[in-house]
Amino acid sequence: MTVTRKDDHVRLAVAQHQTAQHDRRDHAQPGGSFDDVHFLHHALAGTDRNRVSLHTSFAGWTWPVPLYINAMTGGSRKTGEINRDLAIAARETGLAIATGSMSPYLKDPACADTYTPVRQQHPDGFVMANINANATPEQARRAVGLLNADALQIHLNTVQEVVMPEGDRSFDHWPAAIAAITQAVDVPVIVKEVGFGLSGRTVSQLADLGVAVADVAGRGGTDFARIENGRREHADYAYLDGWGLSTPAALLDARGAGMPLLASGGVRHPLDVARALALGARAVGASGPFLTTLVNDGLAALIDQLTTWLDQLTALMTILGAHTPAALAETDLHITGALREFCDQRQIPLPQPKEASR
Ligand SMILES: Cc1cc2nc3c(=O)[nH]c(=O)nc-3n(C[C@H](O)[C@H](O)[C@H](O)COP(=O)(O)O)c2cc1C
Repeated sequence: MTVTRKDDHVRLAVAQHQTAQHDRRDHAQPGGSFDDVHFLHHALAGTDRNRVSLHTSFAGWTWPVPLYINAMTGGSRKTGEINRDLAIAARETGLAIATGSMSPYLKDPACADTYTPVRQQHPDGFVMANINANATPEQARRAVGLLNADALQIHLNTVQEVVMPEGDRSFDHWPAAIAAITQAVDVPVIVKEVGFGLSGRTVSQLADLGVAVADVAGRGGTDFARIENGRREHADYAYLDGWGLSTPAALLDARGAGMPLLASGGVRHPLDVARALALGARAVGASGPFLTTLVNDGLAALIDQLTTWLDQLTALMTILGAHTPAALAETDLHITGALREFCDQRQIPLPQPKEASR
């Protein structure tokens, strides 16, 4: 059952991303989108490209680049091959990588070899294991152990579960379960959404539960309400379209909540990466866009895409005079549209003009 579901998710997510360019209503939705975040252009701000470093440090780690392949696959033969290719692409470009949910492995250890290629192909890389908040502390340790993982992601996905015909219906035990897992594993825990965003309130709660890093994983890209609704006989949850916090709204809501933030969800190109870093993310992840390239065009095309994204991110930082990803947070930003309305209503102070970059 689980294996079939994961293969379905891959097929439906790729189909969604193929039409996404023609079907973007996100801009008008509450909370806006990355297109509401603008860098104010200063014609004398540019620096020497050789002085730009992509290294990013947070939570005691230093990553060579502020980009990662976020959680997607594993559990079936086909998704094991995808994991292998994603890990090769991550190795060739220096990216961190997460596996998809390891629930199938925790239920049936026979599918371990659909996850282990991630570590085998990326032996020195930053690898994240992924579980849901129903896992026991002992299962969490097994997931980390299988991959010799550097961190453990726990995904929160109430909307997906409720719309999923065979999904879970009980979530009130999650805070206690997260606290127990953070105590039990000997690597830092990252909590992520799956495309509906983490609010500032949620991130504060997670800090109290012992979580090290929050990945806001907001709305704007892969939409699991639509994917699961498409798997329902009557597709009767269509009205949930647009549920959740956009990734930039989640970043603005959650910064100051006391935890390093990662950003993912709806990141389409290197400018979105720069925008997320400017809003305070320490690194930026994508899933659907990289999966779509791999499935449609192959491994070489994915490596090419990742290389181009890093090259163009460096170019954007050169224009903006940001020598590090963290320095992007010192640039002048202009927030417009529905994202600005969100900030007004939530009483989130808008980014102020920066003296240093004038
Ligand atoms: C095919 C597919 C499978 C996914 N499976 C998982 C998963 O097992 N665990 C998880 O935490 N997130 C999973 N996600 C969610 C992604 O990690 C990410 O949060 C979400 O897709 C938003 O990012 P995107 O817009 O770049 O795709 C999956 C995404 C895709 C496209």
